[in-house]
Amino acid sequence: MTQTNYTRHIQALDSKHHLHPFTVHADLRARGPRVITRGEGVYLWDSEGKKILDGMAGLWCVNLGYGVEELADVAYETMRTLAYYNVFFQTTTSYAAELADLISQKTPPGLDEIFFASSGSEANDTAVKLIWYYWNLKGRPKKKAILSRKLAYHGSTVAGASLSGLSPMQDIFDLPLARFHHVEPTPYSYGCARPGESERDFAMRCAKALEDKIIELGPENVAAFIGEPVMGAGGLMIPPEGYWPEVERICRKYEVLLWSDEVICGFGRTGEWFGCQTYGVAPDIITMAKGMSSGYQPISAVALNEEVGGVIAEAKGEMTHGYTYSGHPVACAVALRNIRLLDEMGLVGPRGRAAIDHFQTGLAGLADHPLVGETRGVGLLGAIELVKDKKTRERFDPPGRAGMICRTHCFEEGVIMRAIRDTMVLCPPLVISNDEIDEMFALVRRCLDLTARDLGGA
Ligand SMILES: Cc1ncc(COP(=O)(O)O)c(C=O)c1O
Repeated sequence: MTQTNYTRHIQALDSKHHLHPFTVHADLRARGPRVITRGEGVYLWDSEGKKILDGMAGLWCVNLGYGVEELADVAYETMRTLAYYNVFFQTTTSYAAELADLISQKTPPGLDEIFFASSGSEANDTAVKLIWYYWNLKGRPKKKAILSRKLAYHGSTVAGASLSGLSPMQDIFDLPLARFHHVEPTPYSYGCARPGESERDFAMRCAKALEDKIIELGPENVAAFIGEPVMGAGGLMIPPEGYWPEVERICRKYEVLLWSDEVICGFGRTGEWFGCQTYGVAPDIITMAKGMSSGYQPISAVALNEEVGGVIAEAKGEMTHGYTYSGHPVACAVALRNIRLLDEMGLVGPRGRAAIDHFQTGLAGLADHPLVGETRGVGLLGAIELVKDKKTRERFDPPGRAGMICRTHCFEEGVIMRAIRDTMVLCPPLVISNDEIDEMFALVRRCLDLTARDLGGA
């Protein structure tokens, strides 16, 4: 079969039977999906043989890059030794026990009780239930409301979508459920700060909105506040200076558990093991996934601090919660090796910091482009706001069109950037070299030029 016939064959099968996540199927089926066949380092190849630099590490997850043989080997060895066993009914495996231990060493001090699941959404569902369980055990059953933020993304399950603050994910499913509340403004300076408002004032206004919501609902009814240290899928919003410490102060004042969703930020993405460490806050709960196995196996975890984890671990009754694949041996073995490799390669250390410096310099270098209203970044995360007018921040109409044009050019030119409305986002594998960073930004600049041309000059 020729390459093109093979591509058409796969596209036809896919269009006949496969429902994709977050997709307008009529459009996809009319066009046919791109078929990805192979990955190596920071590059992917499609079924037409085209090489593409993956500036998004898959879905923010392939921290070690593609084709890491040690991870393939450990999966193979573990499957041969113990393909599956569960951690229900008073059993464990060396893989689950060692991974819980290693994660407790990497999380900030005290976050030492670890529960395993298979995805970020499952970890977040688990955390919701454990938070409710904790307050029940404490004899405060009224404390059930969970606060989140507009534009947050916390997953796709019923609880994950309820936690998220993105109305397109909720309206068609009659969500969010009761008990889930969203605070605004979102700490998104470029989009939400008032003209002339200082970064500090904006940070305090965003945090005050949280306090106002707690007071409105009654602190005796509020169980927890969830936040991504850096908001990812909602548009890569970097918190203004002072925001997180003020949020922490408010949570402590009203006895509201502070929950850091580290599904994107965990495992080196912001330069530390966890994003909360970058922002100097000490959460009660951390949820993690993605970079935990660099996406090589579906695995996630919830880490609880001494207070919450201790109350649950000491409860007399059964904790009636768990998944068939909680602590799956193959997934745990791969995650263990992945975390050890991140350590050994200095990716959450000197090598990671050097890549971050080079990446952030390259990102800032795009700010002079006529289409770019702002660049912002932290760690190996970067955002580029596409605007019609740099001075007034006027956006293109309709919203999202400029982002889609740019994303299409990116694929055609051989680099993957994600478009979130008209914000282009980068999140490359942590193993990216300086030369590859330079290549990526050269491609990005070219795509910005092509987008500006299509939009009739910016
Ligand atoms: C911050 C955050 N939380 C939760 C999730 C959900 O993770 P999953 O898609 O593995 O269920 C995501 C996914 O992108 C995420 O970015």
